[in-house]
Amino acid sequence: MKPSMVDVEIISDAAALAEAAARRFVLWAQTAVADRGRFCVALSGGVTPHSLYALLCQPPHAGQVDWRHVHLFWGDERCVPPDHADSNFRAVREALLDRELLPGENIHRIPGELLPQQAADTYEQDLRRFFGGGDLPRFDLILLGLGDDGHTASLFPASPALLETQRWAVPVEHTVPPLPLVPRVTLTLPVLNAAGQVLFLVSGAGKASILARVLRPPDSMMESLPAQRIHPLPGRVTWLVDRAAASALK
Ligand code: 6PG
Repeated sequence: MKPSMVDVEIISDAAALAEAAARRFVLWAQTAVADRGRFCVALSGGVTPHSLYALLCQPPHAGQVDWRHVHLFWGDERCVPPDHADSNFRAVREALLDRELLPGENIHRIPGELLPQQAADTYEQDLRRFFGGGDLPRFDLILLGLGDDGHTASLFPASPALLETQRWAVPVEHTVPPLPLVPRVTLTLPVLNAAGQVLFLVSGAGKASILARVLRPPDSMMESLPAQRIHPLPGRVTWLVDRAAASALK
């Protein structure tokens, strides 16, 4: 099987990383809208993409995207209300949505206020309704981050969610000793690997060790970390990393 095309680009610092990501977002959005009449993107949680979201809602990038044809989804969500400090939706709403760039019907959030299984089921119904009941939803772009344990979206090492082959969205319980995390909902590997483009954003010296490990080929499939299991075909994976995060790369 031909491996996915993987590009790793080292960018000087976090601000330049956000700018490089914004330029790619705009290019992919323009191409998708021109070719298919819409741009379907699943956004990432975490802190790293906040500066990207802030750039996208202001000149020059905001005016370069035809937002009427952009549909926003989320790669994962914490099971909290949409106005909760931990909500991935809230982070995007504050940065991007409060400027009313997109029509409300183009925003497909994960209903974190529901119980985890209900939230996953409801989100999956929304996905199936939007993408049609086909074999998989084809996102034009999925943004992902990298956790310092190698997780991405809310797919954590050794999680049963990594073995899911049928569901498009599943609930996740995870404990980072000594505390359990807030339950989450995440897209599953088949969905992530059906994307046209996957863009990882990794910033900061704290990610240097895990990034070097993730970019090395795993010893075996079973030992591979979640972020090492992202290989969309025929899609492409782009890693935009700043110099601090890249400091342990050979
Ligand atoms: C989440 C994210 C998660 C995140 C990584 C990196 O909901 O927490 O989806 O996968 O992207 O943990 O987070 P930072 O960007 O904050 O380092």
